[in-house]
Amino acid sequence: MGNATNIVWHDSKVTKEDRQILKKHKSAAVWFTGLSGSGKSTLTVAVEKELHQLGVHTYRLDGDNIRFGLNKDLGFSPEDRAENIRRIGEVAKLMVDAGLITLTAFISPYQKDRDKAREIIGEAEFIEVYVKCSLETCENRDPKGLYKKARAGEIKEFTGIDAPYEEPVNPELIIDTEKLSLAESVQTVIHYLLEKGFIP
Ligand code: PPS
Repeated sequence: MGNATNIVWHDSKVTKEDRQILKKHKSAAVWFTGLSGSGKSTLTVAVEKELHQLGVHTYRLDGDNIRFGLNKDLGFSPEDRAENIRRIGEVAKLMVDAGLITLTAFISPYQKDRDKAREIIGEAEFIEVYVKCSLETCENRDPKGLYKKARAGEIKEFTGIDAPYEEPVNPELIIDTEKLSLAESVQTVIHYLLEKGFIP
């Protein structure tokens, strides 16, 4: 990392602010974090649909999908998760620069990695959303059967079982998916974006 030399940054003639004016809304990275099965993917899909209907330009980055391509060389050790989140942070930053409301759905279990993503993207455009759900409920939901495999020892370093999940210290939003319906959860996120002036 940091090996490139003789490289020079080129500024564009069209800025992020120009793109935001064209799109008629601001851009941001809405960073959803939570246990496997907490509802991150379901929520980002639903929020994206609602934003799209409101005429907002969006893009969604999702754990499983990114690990099929960009990050297929990475596993689930703490080092690999850190690199996973760093790369997603850099990609999300490009998307925010492109003027998009970018929705990311990654477990991102370590506070220091989420803080790093915040640093990469910038405080003003980083919205950390804790998708809160007890391990017990996630394990009961077990939509992919992964908790069962982890309990049986077939998956190692599984978040919540034999790898940690650090609850966000000071997230912008907490969505409790055990208490709120999907529609209520979506509205909470949309309301935040409206209130903070990201979308008109
Ligand atoms: S991380 O921790 O942010 O780097 O993880 P992420 O990129 O979001 O990938 C999580 C999805 O990978 C599947 N999976 C695992 N999750 C946690 N721990 C282990 N060991 C593991 N192995 C595979 C799992 O399907 C996660 O998807 P979600 O949507 O969170 O259930």
